[in-house]
Amino acid sequence: MSKAPITSPLDAKAREETGQVLQEALVDLIDLSLVAKQAHWNVVGRNFRSVHLQLDELVAAAREYTDQVAERASAIGVSPDGRAATVAKRSGVPEFATGWRDDEAVATAVTATLGEVVQRMRARIQITDDTDLVTQDLIIELTARLEEAHWMWQAQLA
Ligand SMILES: [Fe+2]
Repeated sequence: MSKAPITSPLDAKAREETGQVLQEALVDLIDLSLVAKQAHWNVVGRNFRSVHLQLDELVAAAREYTDQVAERASAIGVSPDGRAATVAKRSGVPEFATGWRDDEAVATAVTATLGEVVQRMRARIQITDDTDLVTQDLIIELTARLEEAHWMWQAQLA
């Protein structure tokens, strides 16, 4: 498409910077949902059932905000890119080991992963403070959800 079909409420600079933040958040959230499903399928151990179910709660949250972040990009006139190849190249989510994994190892890995994603989201809250407060509001909301999940995973390791 030669001409942009969706106008933006933002000026060109704010649109570009906010669009980049949303694109990076999108890729992280897609990868987070994939890693959580991988863990959901591969966890074994004494706490299998609670960890297995808790992982699907994380998948649901990641998918919910994946859609909201992608559609926020569209709403400011930025085409979202959620293709597998883009996610593989651009994600900042730590790699998750293959194979069966003990429930405690899963809780440790998911806690570390959420800690990393939260830091990446908090940097995006800072950037959007200057570029778009409406997008910032969405990122604050999803970061609060990720921080809640981080607490609940961490609590299991205490
Ligand atoms: Fe399942």
